[in-house]
Amino acid sequence: MKHEIRYFQILPSTNLYIEENLRSLNHGDVVVASKQTNGRGRLGREWESSSGALTFSMLYKDGEIDPCLLPLLSSVAVAKTMESLGLSPLLKWPNDVMLLDKKCCGILVQGVSQGEKNTYIIGIGVNLNQKSFPDSLPNATSLFVTLGKSVDKQSFLNAFLENFDSLSTEEALGFLKDHDYLLGKKIDLSYYGEGLSGLAKGIDSKGNLLLENEQGDILTISSGEATLHREK
Ligand code: BTN
Repeated sequence: MKHEIRYFQILPSTNLYIEENLRSLNHGDVVVASKQTNGRGRLGREWESSSGALTFSMLYKDGEIDPCLLPLLSSVAVAKTMESLGLSPLLKWPNDVMLLDKKCCGILVQGVSQGEKNTYIIGIGVNLNQKSFPDSLPNATSLFVTLGKSVDKQSFLNAFLENFDSLSTEEALGFLKDHDYLLGKKIDLSYYGEGLSGLAKGIDSKGNLLLENEQGDILTISSGEATLHREK
């Protein structure tokens, strides 16, 4: 895939920039901002983009990948990039990348309508070089905190794009199986406002989480937010 990259010092959100400039951007184009003033997170949340983070979005239209697998492929490509730096990331369903039990990357894939075409914006925020995090983000970490040295943003982005382009669905699913943060753990889940609990049993070939409830049924969960279960 060809990637033209647009760089900005400051944008409200790289996802929003792509949404507003769909006509002048092509499949594979990437938008990078050194700072976002209104970063978007999953489930309508805000994404805090402190300096040191790598924040970018990629336009994905008329590609061959099943759109429901885009978050998985993106998170695997990020994790593979981290592994090449000597780190040991794990993937937390649906698409967080974790280092030592803390989140170091968030991914937001947005579908946008553009005529008949299936068009998606893949937004990625990697905590690369932040030296610390505010008390309001106790579960965040960065590559700098874990490695003890800075990581070059451009090299990381280039390696990510190479990994994304060369990854097959089979490879991504295999990688996920070996790097599944939730696998075998008791979790709580909010699923369309409903609270569910159970044992995480892996991810199916469509990227759904398999959850075994107390009755022993396996539920297939397409979206939501999982947290490790804490006894009350
Ligand atoms: C999450 O909630 O975990 C997803 C966070 C995604 C943040 C990235 S930063 C680059 C891109 N632009 C945005 O506004 N959001 C995504």
